[in-house]
Amino acid sequence: MLKSFAAAAAVLAAIGFGSASAADYPTRPVTMIVPFAAGGPTDTVTRLVAESMSKDLGQQIVVENIGGAGGTLGAGRVAKSEPDGYTLLLHHISMATSATLYRKLPYDTLGGFEYVGLVTEVPMTLVARSDFEPKDLKAFIDYVKANKDKVTYANAGVGAASHLCGLLFMSKIETQMTTVPYKGTGPAMTDLVGKQVDTMCDQTTNTTNQIKGGKIKAYATTTTTRVSSLPDVPTAAEAGLPGFEVSIWHGIYAPKGTSPEIVKKLSASLQKALKDPLVVKRFADLGTTPVSDADATPEALKAKLTSEIDRWAPVIKAAGVYAD
Ligand code: MLT
Repeated sequence: MLKSFAAAAAVLAAIGFGSASAADYPTRPVTMIVPFAAGGPTDTVTRLVAESMSKDLGQQIVVENIGGAGGTLGAGRVAKSEPDGYTLLLHHISMATSATLYRKLPYDTLGGFEYVGLVTEVPMTLVARSDFEPKDLKAFIDYVKANKDKVTYANAGVGAASHLCGLLFMSKIETQMTTVPYKGTGPAMTDLVGKQVDTMCDQTTNTTNQIKGGKIKAYATTTTTRVSSLPDVPTAAEAGLPGFEVSIWHGIYAPKGTSPEIVKKLSASLQKALKDPLVVKRFADLGTTPVSDADATPEALKAKLTSEIDRWAPVIKAAGVYAD
């Protein structure tokens, strides 16, 4: 009799019933939401980290893409999920910029999540379709100023990193291009390679291989020093546009109310994943590096998000850009 009760309890716990304690967590697959379409930079970072954390936790971390509205739809889904540790979010700087850009969000930015930790900070690259006429950044800027909204610019929606980078670029050259929004820069890259759209600013995790393969043209990186995986691409300052610097930090969140023990276990697993040689190498190949243990913590992510909301609010308000 006892055997059958124990067996039944194990089955119920395995399918999520009963009170599987934090000590047993996770007892079933975990979903990690990427708030952009598959194939983009956020998806790439998430799949690398999720694969390594799955090995450590002994349960599959299943990546689910929920694109739309610059990442706010996916973040909203996670905020509304059960705080049981089985739904997580990997998101980036847009958590901070959307707090100012969106008059109404489907979540409370600072009150709707528990913080697991920072993951990585990724440089951006200003790129164009491979047959685009301008040969370098100066010629590109002159071309955009001369052709204005005839030039198309792809991004992943208002609030996305690709939107923020474009906002900064267009305000620096005081010229507006025509924006073409996608559910992520994965599909946007497909159109850029296919010469259906002219230009984009995207993270090296999505542009490095296309640049190296000659599928797209790179004008500059948005960094103070050259990106190791793209040694031939000048920084914007070197190419004649000083002060055009932005890099995209990423963090992992859980719904508010997720137990501290589970958050602690996830942060420890994240720290291990960020030291996984495969993750370190793949990040390096794509122009980025994992954060330190000290930054892969709830405290570091909370501090980063809070300071970045304060940093970008005046920049966004000055640009006069909002999303309803
Ligand atoms: C963005 O903010 O532009 C996103 O990172 C794009 C993506 O990950 O698909």
